[in-house]
Amino acid sequence: MSDVLSGLTALAAEVRKCQLCQLANGRINAVPGDGPPTAEIMLIGEGPGMNEDKHGLPFVGVSGKFLTELLSKAGYKREEVFITNVVKCRPPQNRDPLPEEMSACNGYLARQIALINPKIIVTLGRFSMSKFFPNERISVIHGQARKVNGRVVVAMYHPAAALHQPALRATLEQDFANLKPLIANVQRTMEKPPVPKAVVTASAPPPPKQADPNDKEADENTQLSLF
Ligand code: URA
Ligand code: SF4
Repeated sequence: MSDVLSGLTALAAEVRKCQLCQLANGRINAVPGDGPPTAEIMLIGEGPGMNEDKHGLPFVGVSGKFLTELLSKAGYKREEVFITNVVKCRPPQNRDPLPEEMSACNGYLARQIALINPKIIVTLGRFSMSKFFPNERISVIHGQARKVNGRVVVAMYHPAAALHQPALRATLEQDFANLKPLIANVQRTMEKPPVPKAVVTASAPPPPKQADPNDKEADENTQLSLF
């Protein structure tokens, strides 16, 4: 078993017996998350609903079906992405997760991100977005790849919201359709060759700023235009 897989398996076992917040009391099953340890995309939703609580798996109800459809239209199989939530246990009557529940559960999400080390994180809905962009508005930043603490994160509307508000549906579909080109862009930026030593030694003549593709400043500008 790979180290990542054994890490995720151990984490899931911890989550299933976790008592760190009051949501432990009402659950049938905790829902640690699901997907391969090698996933390049990690999707983070809000919290388990009735069906997820019943099955111990994320996004298996109506929103889950829609999410699978969005992924498939974007060229991804559901089985190749990792799906999890901000809180791993169902809030009663599907109420919003409370700040103290989200912070109690945060360590599991942080460990999942560190273990999987995805190329891109997609947040679904406002609670997930608030983890990375506490002061932003979804209507402004949805669909944009932004760097947060060295990670590339895209905020998107929650599939359940898009199911209830037809106006959001087209937006969410478009944001998912843009995911593959976005990831290809991220990949290209990451794969830029490092600055060759000879160029940065003191004795070397300074290269012209605009023209040199290995120039650090130029490289940073490229990144900024991407994010
Ligand atoms: N909604 C979520 O945010 N997460 C799930 O797992 C299911 C529905
Ligand atoms: Fe533990 Fe998270 Fe479940 Fe709360 S929601 S009991 S912190 S796993």
